[in-house]
Amino acid sequence: MATVQQIVALIRSHARGDRERFARIAEQMAETAAGRGQEKIAAEIRALLREADASAGPVAKSRDPIPMLRPRGELVGVMSVANPDVRLSDMVLDDHLLARLRKIVKEQCERSKLEARGLQPRRKFLLVGPPGTGKTMSTAAVATELGLPLFTILLDGLITKYMGETASKLRLVFDAMSERRAVYLFDEVDALATSRATDNDVGEARRILNSFLQFLDEDRSTSLVFAATNHPELLDRAIFRRFNASLHFELPGPPLVRPLVESVLSNFDLDRIDWAAVTSGAANLSQAEIVRAADDAARDAVLDHDNVVDTELLLASLADSHRVRPLT
Ligand SMILES: Nc1ncnc2c1ncn2[C@@H]1O[C@H](COP(=O)(O)OP(=O)(O)O)[C@@H](O)[C@H]1O
Ligand SMILES: [Mg+2]
Repeated sequence: MATVQQIVALIRSHARGDRERFARIAEQMAETAAGRGQEKIAAEIRALLREADASAGPVAKSRDPIPMLRPRGELVGVMSVANPDVRLSDMVLDDHLLARLRKIVKEQCERSKLEARGLQPRRKFLLVGPPGTGKTMSTAAVATELGLPLFTILLDGLITKYMGETASKLRLVFDAMSERRAVYLFDEVDALATSRATDNDVGEARRILNSFLQFLDEDRSTSLVFAATNHPELLDRAIFRRFNASLHFELPGPPLVRPLVESVLSNFDLDRIDWAAVTSGAANLSQAEIVRAADDAARDAVLDHDNVVDTELLLASLADSHRVRPLT
């Protein structure tokens, strides 16, 4: 049997979301069991641990209260923090992208295995694709799976608001990265390149870009760096090279429309929906627009249609989404 101390330590590490410690204690328990000739129990514990690793680890996540994490001092207004709870399994993704995201998580969860062989898990990812295709959501989901907080840096705001001090603010962000292992998302990273294109302050913009590249190069932290852009064509080629991989996000293909709608309307009876019609009604809409349309249909159903979501209602909301599309 495991000792009482082991059980207490196990529960404590679970409560604190300390995944590594949890695994270590469980492994100790397996060893104790094996030492007593309870090979079957040892094997069962180890199999459960492997399973937990493979499915991206236990649900436990950092319960660090947000106030402790909240950016202070000079980082206020530069970075925001969240403790996300959205999981990869909550998302509707094509198999390829899902597999790539799971692999990112797995490399981190099994970091020590890689390191034992002189390998490093990849940490820097560029997310490319149109607005509303799940770049931010995927980043949040990876943070959840790893039990890490998510810090978002809004470059657009950072650059316009603090033009003269952007490089030094960026340095603070990269300092934070080494101090606190977390997921850091540089949203709208193309702002770096866009500002370069404007005539005034060309020199300053170049300096900011160069600092960004240099900080990326020098970063030896264990944090994960995600950078998202809707405009890859604006990005300096040098940026691409700094990342371990780029992930491409696209508008949902026809097979994903139904699961997207179903993910929002799980409380409704959808047996009689004409999915072919709904799928064509959703053509050219992003995941975000489809989710929003399904939400609208749900509200209409509750308020005006006796809680029934039917094809007509969905098609009407999807048509509205097409109409309210911003002209970008
Ligand atoms: N793959 C997806 N599965 C489920 N919902 C999604 C997906 N992608 C986007 N959404 C919905 O759209 C919203 C906006 O997506 P977001 O991740 O912010 O897009 P992006 O960062 O690419 O502009 C999400 O909060 C979610 O409601
Ligand atoms: Mg986004």
